Amino acid sequence: MTDAQRPLKVPELEQAFMNEDHQEAARLLERVGEARAAGDDARLREAFAAFVECNREHFAREDALMERIGFPQTDYHRQEHAAHLARWEALLAGLEDGSVQGAEVASALDDEIIPWYQRHFTTMDALLAQFAQRANA
Ligand SMILES: [Fe+2]
Ligand SMILES: [Fe+2]
Repeated sequence: MTDAQRPLKVPELEQAFMNEDHQEAARLLERVGEARAAGDDARLREAFAAFVECNREHFAREDALMERIGFPQTDYHRQEHAAHLARWEALLAGLEDGSVQGAEVASALDDEIIPWYQRHFTTMDALLAQFAQRANA
């Protein structure tokens, strides 16, 4: 629980709202990391809830953009958002009802969530931002 959490490196993409949302997600993850370092499960739950909520809104904004501009990989990108959000919501629900401990969320952050998010920025989101810029969206 006391290992330092890897920070998200947010790339500069061609869509301002995506960059702002990604910066906010990175900031909220830093708060999760601080709660982990402090060994404070209540703060971890609160910060992780804010991260999940931020991404629920962020993914919906990207999904709407993809629909609007007819992005060719909309279905796959949407499915990635939905699958990861569902997993994070299940972890959060577990934290809230006590069936999941902070240490389990910490492992999920290190092994799944942070690596996935870092990859997602630089692959699917980068493609979407480029496509949207060319579509003048
Ligand atoms: Fe994104
Ligand atoms: Fe995305």
